[in-house]
Amino acid sequence: MKVNTQLLSENFSQQIINRDNINILDLDREEIINQFKSYGFLLFRGFENSVDTFTEFTNSLSKDFMDYTGGVFNRRIINGNATILTVNDFKDEIKLHGEMYYQKDIPLMLWFFCAHPASEDGETILCDGRQLFNELSSPLKELFRNKKLKFLGHLDKERWQTQYKTDDLRVVEQTCKSNNLLLQINEDESIDLQFISPAIHSSRCGKYPTFINSLLPAIHRYKNVVCFDDDSEITDDIVSELNELADRITTEISWKKGDILMVDNTRIMHGRRAFSDNQREIYLRLCSPAFPF
Ligand SMILES: [Fe+2]
Repeated sequence: MKVNTQLLSENFSQQIINRDNINILDLDREEIINQFKSYGFLLFRGFENSVDTFTEFTNSLSKDFMDYTGGVFNRRIINGNATILTVNDFKDEIKLHGEMYYQKDIPLMLWFFCAHPASEDGETILCDGRQLFNELSSPLKELFRNKKLKFLGHLDKERWQTQYKTDDLRVVEQTCKSNNLLLQINEDESIDLQFISPAIHSSRCGKYPTFINSLLPAIHRYKNVVCFDDDSEITDDIVSELNELADRITTEISWKKGDILMVDNTRIMHGRRAFSDNQREIYLRLCSPAFPF
């Protein structure tokens, strides 16, 4: 079935709205892939989607689903499938970020499913890291070209056991090694982690320089967990310039039940507005595209 699209915002991207009462599984695969590659994310709205159709649809376009080992948030498993997870378990705002950019192995793409929207607020926000890079001031462009980000983490025993889904420190050692994470094991069996990574990456589609990383939520929530790789401070002025620029070019998704969102995690940063509704249920899959990318 041919894909009907319309602009989601003035900034960028498309949404696919189901006006003809068709099944999402009948959409033209090649057209979805082409739209995804050119815009970086796609919203599918108005389809009769359940968790099962979400699973089948995402399985048809993706591979290498991840179970979030090493991820910093608590997420619930849905339908007994370790690759369908809730988004994190608190209600505060989350600043724009690329998913899992605090380790080497990132999911190249993300899928979100709205099982139940918040009665108000709780919008997911999206920002094109390619556009953000292009609009950065010259001094900031230079700064982020010259200096990498250094992330620091301290995890007590209970936390690393949850985060790495094991009680064996040798398994943690292996995972950290393969993710370029510098690991220090302390006497009380807590661990310290360090990860150095550029703030600017090359997007998979088109290989454009892209501002995508975990800087903004890290520095917003825990001031001392990120600095430059020469240990210099990422100042409030730098963070303000980034947040102001990002706010200008951010698109909001006001969720409707059954919405599916497809995101290029090498180009598009995501986050969300705060909310208070306990019923908000958004699910997440982390994976790679099952098509040339
Ligand atoms: Fe995220």
